Amino acid sequence: MSLDPGWLGPLWDAARRVRAHAHAPYSRFAVGAAVLDEQGQVHAGCNVENAAYPQGWCAETSALAAMVSAGGRRVQALLVVGEAADPVTPCGGCRQKLREFAAEDCPIIVADSREVRGRYTLGQLLPVSFGPQHLRQGPSDIHSSEAPEPHAGVAPAPAPHATTTIHAGPEAPP
Ligand code: THU
Repeated sequence: MSLDPGWLGPLWDAARRVRAHAHAPYSRFAVGAAVLDEQGQVHAGCNVENAAYPQGWCAETSALAAMVSAGGRRVQALLVVGEAADPVTPCGGCRQKLREFAAEDCPIIVADSREVRGRYTLGQLLPVSFGPQHLRQGPSDIHSSEAPEPHAGVAPAPAPHATTTIHAGPEAPP
């Protein structure tokens, strides 16, 4: 595979390094991920499992959290490192989480510790997706005329709920 953009090496190194810190005592499946943000900074994360199994989370989610926590807001590229017969691609939930911060043409590189196993774009892995722009377009239901203008980066507040007063009919007991 002829892939050698300048960011590939640093992302791969970071993902391999952080994979060594994976907390995966239940699956024994260690994963490392690294993202490149809009400033050219690299943020890495590993999977963190939990004895209450559904409470664990993926390496990609850790990497995204590290990026946001450091002030990054856009993902320019993501690289995942895992060891399996099939290339380790991001799970569905992580694809959607990435969608929040990445464009459709964002490269997603899947690798093991020896070689790149595949290269995709977010649009390929999550086609026809729901994203922040849907909320920016505003709700199209009957409340739209009451909806406030959304501020940058802030979802519009929900329209206030109407309260319903139930009037007792003449046949109701006092
Ligand atoms: N996992 C990741 O961290 N990223 C992926 O892309 C696939 C799966 C983790 C979740 C869980 O801790 C373990 O791998 C087995 O599913």
